[in-house]
Amino acid sequence: MVKQSNDVLSGFGTTVFEVMSKLAIQHKAINLGQGFPDEDGPEDIRAMAAKGLMDGPNQYPPMMGTAELRQAVTDANHRFYGIAVEPDSGVLVTSGATEALNDCLMALINPGDEVVLLEPLYDCYLPLVLRAGGIVKSVRLDPPHWGLQKDRLDAAFSEKTKLVLLNNPMNPTGKVFTLSELELLAEYVQKYDAYAVCDEVYEHIVFGLNRHIPLATLPGMGDRTVRIGSAGKTFSLTGWKVGYVTGAEELIAKIAKAHQFVTFTTPPALQNAVAFGLGKDDEFYQNLKDSMQHKRDFIKNACNPSGSRQQIATAPILSMLISILLALRELTKNFARRSRPKLVLRQFRSAHFTHQRGRKPILCAFVFASERKS
Ligand SMILES: Cc1ncc(COP(=O)(O)O)c(C=O)c1O
Repeated sequence: MVKQSNDVLSGFGTTVFEVMSKLAIQHKAINLGQGFPDEDGPEDIRAMAAKGLMDGPNQYPPMMGTAELRQAVTDANHRFYGIAVEPDSGVLVTSGATEALNDCLMALINPGDEVVLLEPLYDCYLPLVLRAGGIVKSVRLDPPHWGLQKDRLDAAFSEKTKLVLLNNPMNPTGKVFTLSELELLAEYVQKYDAYAVCDEVYEHIVFGLNRHIPLATLPGMGDRTVRIGSAGKTFSLTGWKVGYVTGAEELIAKIAKAHQFVTFTTPPALQNAVAFGLGKDDEFYQNLKDSMQHKRDFIKNACNPSGSRQQIATAPILSMLISILLALRELTKNFARRSRPKLVLRQFRSAHFTHQRGRKPILCAFVFASERKS
């Protein structure tokens, strides 16, 4: 009899993204279930990567990341948020934000530590926290504004809190946290002497008058916060899996201890091409927002003809959440009538978003609108 494998991860089944993408391939349907763009990323960045592959070197780059990318991440932190980080000691390059999250959680959590998670959750948070031995204390956010509520923070934080994992801008809700909400959260993190791990992969995809404020920029937070970014999201190159973590030297040194045993490095040609990308001018970043907002608006209008009873959240980032009420049937009909594709909708069940089991399905989300071809 073979002994049982670790049951924390095997208990989770296959991620909803993989399930939906397989269905989309099987039915030749437009895949709105997994968040990847239908464009293939900026050509000049891809050309840089191709050149890097041919010219080399193609051997292990430095464990912390190539000097070019660490410098570019440092420059971007300063340019967009006025954050000062040291390229040699305050930046760690990882194989995607997912590896960065894993490294941060492995490095900071001891078994039995409490970890505050804001629900609805991005899918890998729960398994990674549990595998690291963390005990989840969840703070539920409610539609339509997904605001942080003080009484829920009171219930979740305690002397045992080791860290809070904040996704801002937030997937799947599209929430962009306001300055006053971030100030409230910072108060709790400091009161309980905890860390903040901030997943900010959508930092550049914020619409309208909303603006992204890294928690790390708030007073007293710089030394206890790490910020995670992803080239996959910023450059529509999701298959590359190049991520970066920035923070205070002592924290990054601890996280690098996990990284060295997880992947150790990330392909050097991709790193240097991303370094080039991060230096792109303001027009590039503006176009990214504008084109994503255009797609968001297209699908929103397609799903919400006048007179419809569906409630569509005007999320300030790409994700759109639609309250399920009557929505799913009517919505599929409306969308199909207007754009005539076969459609794979992502109908989330609460189990995809929460550590509490057994709730009814509540939400339906589109993550990316593909380019309209007909
Ligand atoms: C909130 C969030 N964090 C992390 C990731 C993963 O990023 P990466 O592909 O860089 O690992 C995603 C991908 O969809 C995401 O939505």
